[in-house]
Amino acid sequence: MKMQHSVMILAAGLGKRMKSPLPKVLHPLAGRPMIQHLLHHVFAVSPDAPVAIVVGHGREQVQADIASQVAFRGRSITFIVQSEQKGTGHAARCAMESPWGKTQVAGKKTVLVFPGDLPLVPEELVRAMAEPMAREAALRLLTCKLPDPTGYGRVIRRGKSGPVLKIVEEKDCNAREKLGTEVAASIYAFQAAFLATQLQKLSNKNAQGEYYLTDLVAMAARSKKKVDVLTWTCAEDLRGINDRYELAQARGLLNQRILKAWAQSGVDITDLSGTWIDSSVELAPGAVIGAGVHLKGRTQIAALAEIRMGSVITDSEVGASAVVGPYAHLRPGSVVGAHCKVGNFVELKNTRLGEKTSVSRLSYLGDATVGARVNIGCGFVTCNFDGRVIAGKRKHETVIEDDVFMGSDCQTVAPIRVGKGAFVASGSTITEDVEGGALAIARSRQVNKPGYARKLTESSKERE
Ligand code: UD1
Ligand code: CA
Repeated sequence: MKMQHSVMILAAGLGKRMKSPLPKVLHPLAGRPMIQHLLHHVFAVSPDAPVAIVVGHGREQVQADIASQVAFRGRSITFIVQSEQKGTGHAARCAMESPWGKTQVAGKKTVLVFPGDLPLVPEELVRAMAEPMAREAALRLLTCKLPDPTGYGRVIRRGKSGPVLKIVEEKDCNAREKLGTEVAASIYAFQAAFLATQLQKLSNKNAQGEYYLTDLVAMAARSKKKVDVLTWTCAEDLRGINDRYELAQARGLLNQRILKAWAQSGVDITDLSGTWIDSSVELAPGAVIGAGVHLKGRTQIAALAEIRMGSVITDSEVGASAVVGPYAHLRPGSVVGAHCKVGNFVELKNTRLGEKTSVSRLSYLGDATVGARVNIGCGFVTCNFDGRVIAGKRKHETVIEDDVFMGSDCQTVAPIRVGKGAFVASGSTITEDVEGGALAIARSRQVNKPGYARKLTESSKERE
């Protein structure tokens, strides 16, 4: 079925209270900038909808950030510049009067409008707003009852629960209006024709001298058209981010939702209070996630893998039944094969471990390809950077083939290859390739001098 709506996201505001050089909508939660959470839901609900994002402050940054996301390639996203922030109504007008408004909205029945600073809005809410409206409705308004409505526009109805008459911004409320607890969330579905014509009639004669999008509600109520109301019961979903404390709170709430969803899908979440999982992470049922673990970016954890306490994993894959941690650090591009063991204080960067390989403790492997059933002893280091640039590359590769035994406290200086089944004696610094099956020893030979210790003690006594 062809989608009948377009989507407008208002994100031109300064976000002054964030006290941040970063545009407000780019502050991250659960691994993505806040505006991207909404965008993901919008495209999940209507993959073909033409989306306009009204940008102003930091617009180059906002545009570049969204354009860099693979998830949004091929989607129809248009940026509309609102060069002066004269209010939400003015922002919407900029979009409607732009070529996007004239071409992408004209043929559609409805325009959904969202502010860019509500990252906790769930997909169901976007879906509910996208449901077709009654023909006689000019708009659908999303409202919510809040125990503390401070700062929100109040919904004013005829009588106690009659039809909606208008929205009054807090700064414009009289004492009685201020007592109201039903608020507008700044989320709407408009009949496209209604929006296009009424925006031109907005006035800015109000406490803030701004063109308020909310005033369209009174215009609809006064006309023969109706205002359709969707009352949302979960106030948490509509939390706006205006300062960094609200951002921190929203991070916690979003993280709890993510943990709950994984736990309900069969992942063992050991500790709800200190575990952080980005929204782009994928976990298989039966995975075990220990306390204080952070899983970031495009990380994937396979079934029955166990990530132990305090491990941090970014853009990496952990295979089935592997054990990682406690306190392991997997940096981007790492792949840990099935049944591997990566123990405490091991750091992997852009490193692939074949199945049943073990790096049990205190090691660093960067830009390495390690085969299956390899044993890496304690304190191993791939020296992948020697300060030189070879063929344009700053970091050099290490290959350790299947069944190698790497003794404790070894280093390999890349580029280097240790062949299948080779044995590297502990304490070796390997600078030349090792052929398969060989034993490599690269350390100075030990010399024992009998009785020498006593001589040393005596000579130091003489000096006293
Ligand atoms: C707005 C609503 C208020 C509602 C609240 C819910 C209006 C007048 N008020 O108030 O009724 O309860 O949201 O969160 O609509 N923006 C622009 N250009 C502008 C001004 C704002 O793009 O000129 C964008 C902002 O970047 C932001 C969104 O519009 O993403 C909302 O603006 P904001 O200033 O946060 O409005 P509120 O005061 O929260
Ligand atoms: Ca706001």
